[in-house]
Amino acid sequence: MYKHRDPIFGLDLILKTGLSIKNNSFNEENFARFDLYGPTFQGIAWATQCINSIEPKNLASVLGGSDWGVQEMRLPTWAPFCGAGFLTTDGEEAKWKRSLLKPFFHSSNISDLSLMHAGLYQMMRMFPKDDTAFDLQPLVFDLYLDLSTSFLFGEPIGALSGKCPQHAKGFVDAFQAGIAGCGLRMAVGPLRHLIPNRSWFEACKKSHQFADYYVDRALEHRARYLAKQKEADPGDGTLTKPRTLLIKMAEVTGDRKLLRDQIVQAMMGSQDTTSVLICNVVHLLSRHKDIQRQLQTEIISLGTKDPSFENLGRMRYLQAILNETLRLHPVFPHIARVAMKDTILPSGGGSDGKSPIFCPAGSLFRTSIYTLHRQTRTYGPDAHEFKPERWLDKSFMPGTYEYVPFGVGRRSCLGKHKAMMESSYMIVRLFQQCHHGMRVN
Ligand code: HEM
Repeated sequence: MYKHRDPIFGLDLILKTGLSIKNNSFNEENFARFDLYGPTFQGIAWATQCINSIEPKNLASVLGGSDWGVQEMRLPTWAPFCGAGFLTTDGEEAKWKRSLLKPFFHSSNISDLSLMHAGLYQMMRMFPKDDTAFDLQPLVFDLYLDLSTSFLFGEPIGALSGKCPQHAKGFVDAFQAGIAGCGLRMAVGPLRHLIPNRSWFEACKKSHQFADYYVDRALEHRARYLAKQKEADPGDGTLTKPRTLLIKMAEVTGDRKLLRDQIVQAMMGSQDTTSVLICNVVHLLSRHKDIQRQLQTEIISLGTKDPSFENLGRMRYLQAILNETLRLHPVFPHIARVAMKDTILPSGGGSDGKSPIFCPAGSLFRTSIYTLHRQTRTYGPDAHEFKPERWLDKSFMPGTYEYVPFGVGRRSCLGKHKAMMESSYMIVRLFQQCHHGMRVN
């Protein structure tokens, strides 16, 4: 049991957590707490039982089972921004809403790297022509804003070129303020009612206006699509080939509000994910010359040609680098759930810490993926070190609930293969461009 100063509401730990987020020490403090209290410890958050666990058996029960959800935690706070889509609902409703997205992530839709190719070249043209150092991160973030709006809505918003279309002006800032507002309101729990809402509501409204511009276009497509369906399919693919995630969903539902909620939530799910992974890879490689050299060798074997979807999947060392980066620096370092009904966790209770724990409906569950991925019992004494080679060892195989950078179970990441392919492509192309490797600066 966590030693609370405030054992009724748990305000001490809530405050500590807030400060650690502010000071960028959230992951390290979580790690230290698990080190002190063991793989499962209980605490209090807003007068509610909260189980913190990195015990694989518990993760299997929570993430792999159906007793734990997110709706109670997210919907009341996030609804003004992103409504009731796949990220804020549970059970059959969430399953159906997720199924609206799923077909668009099929490999046939994500294997075309031509969009990436064009965006990447646009970005690389912005690199300094001489050997001067430059900050890659803002360029990658802008590139990804363009790529994700292309994937979701059908066109880039001109983040890289700086030529933003009229309807998208102010959208990026509003969207980021919208997400930040959701995070803040969830963190302060019942105190959220005390936060002034005006600027957040404005950010929500601006984000909705942007999304609605595309939703209306998708609904026009839907009308044409339904009309055509009544005729015979021309058979040239124009009737069935989805062009964007939004259009694909609009072929199934004409509910304007639902389409907006889903697309705003899809944007939330894909925001700052692949771009963060790419920047983390570059950061780690720039500090490990030996690993860079080995990667160069693998890349040189490709020649100068553009790597294909199939070739990228076969680059074992590159894939090991990505796995290792996601292990040490998971893009989502923390996952939380709430018990939808009275339930039992298999481990962490009793005086020995091994007995089951009873969790009444409404209990919170939190896991630290960052801590889970650094356990010496799974990864050995060098668990904190960047060693891609460990993934090449055939005897090394973390369990399903010991390595979860993309989540697991009914809410696992739909964008996993897309993100891995795009990161692979980007890293290879960056290395082909920077013949002298990358240096820390
Ligand atoms: C390196 C990149 C990425 C990482 C590490 C990542 C990680 C994750 C994780 C950990 C979850 C599970 C969250 C939970 O259990 O609460 C998740 C869910 C999801 N991700 Fe990703 N993601 C990445 C990129 C993307 C991209 C690019 C997209 C879309 C284009 C995407 C779409 C989704 C969706 C739709 C879900 C399902 C959410 C749900 O059903 O509740 N992800 N992702």
